[in-house]
Amino acid sequence: MTGSVDETAETAEAAETAEAAEAPEADEAAQWWATAVSHVEPGSIELRERPIQQLIGSASLVDVIWLLLRGGTPSARESALLEAALVAGVDHGPQAPSIAAARMAATCGIGLNNAMATGINMLGDSHGGAGQQCVEMLTDVRARHATGLDWDTAAQEVMADWQSRSRYLPGFGHRFHPVDPRRDPLLGLVRDAVADGVVAGDHLEAALAVESVLRRRRAGARPVPMNIDGATAVIYAELGFPAPLARGLFVLSRSVGVLAHAWEESGQGRRNKGPVPRGVVPARLPPVQGA
Ligand SMILES: CC(C)(COP(=O)(O)OP(=O)(O)OC[C@H]1O[C@@H](n2cnc3c(N)ncnc32)[C@H](O)[C@@H]1OP(=O)(O)O)[C@@H](O)C(=O)NCCC(=O)NCCS
Repeated sequence: MTGSVDETAETAEAAETAEAAEAPEADEAAQWWATAVSHVEPGSIELRERPIQQLIGSASLVDVIWLLLRGGTPSARESALLEAALVAGVDHGPQAPSIAAARMAATCGIGLNNAMATGINMLGDSHGGAGQQCVEMLTDVRARHATGLDWDTAAQEVMADWQSRSRYLPGFGHRFHPVDPRRDPLLGLVRDAVADGVVAGDHLEAALAVESVLRRRRAGARPVPMNIDGATAVIYAELGFPAPLARGLFVLSRSVGVLAHAWEESGQGRRNKGPVPRGVVPARLPPVQGA
């Protein structure tokens, strides 16, 4: 049974009032999740306003990483440079803490995602995460050079500043390699990109200046040339990525190796893999003092 005209009008008015009362909350919720990265509606997925249908089959994963992180599309040369940095960091064998941890975790009855997270959580200031500080250091050298100092003096000033806090400069030295085999090919690609006007080359100059001062100071001692974090930091900085993303991008790259190792280990049937093979007795630990 339908109500009177008056009753219908009152019901409509009440509904409008309720809607108006809800609207600010809906707006607030929309604002809370406002993002320029992606927009999803029923039947539509846009990444930085580009429909996913346009990207599938035409954009490379590296191009999509660039698109999501900063918007826009890299040129073919920029994309190739970013890809080289990402390829270089994928794996460093089971002696790398991130890989070893993921392999051990994979044998402990947890999921592949948990094993990956275990390895990725180990990428820090001294292992795989130094690219972030290296970009900051190179940016500082570049800024001082821009004030009129030559590269060598600018590098020495910045190194003194960093080494007043830690003797280890980020992006230099390697426990395993006298010269990191990834250094030369990566820097070669940056040099080519500078020659072709793809990138400016200031961060490359800054990194080479730091390396040259270190070489001079450590003449006769164990050299500490640029490592993977340093060489990839040069690329990320030359391409204009902010410092924290140097770590983020390295994590993306290393995740590939972490996944491959965790997956392989999970198929080998070991349970609770430890740091030494079963039966090998580790050196006796000193007695605990005062406990
Ligand atoms: C990678 C790293 C942990 C390897 O360390 P290590 O081989 O155990 O180095 P040691 O602590 O034995 O140092 C050996 C010598 O090299 C020097 N050295 C090592 N790395 C150095 C660096 N990054 N900057 C300046 N000097 C460094 C040490 O001061 C030490 O000097 P000494 O011989 O006068 O005492 C170390 O080089 C480091 O912390 N680098 C910076 C962080 C980084 O880039 N990590 C990414 C690694 S891929």
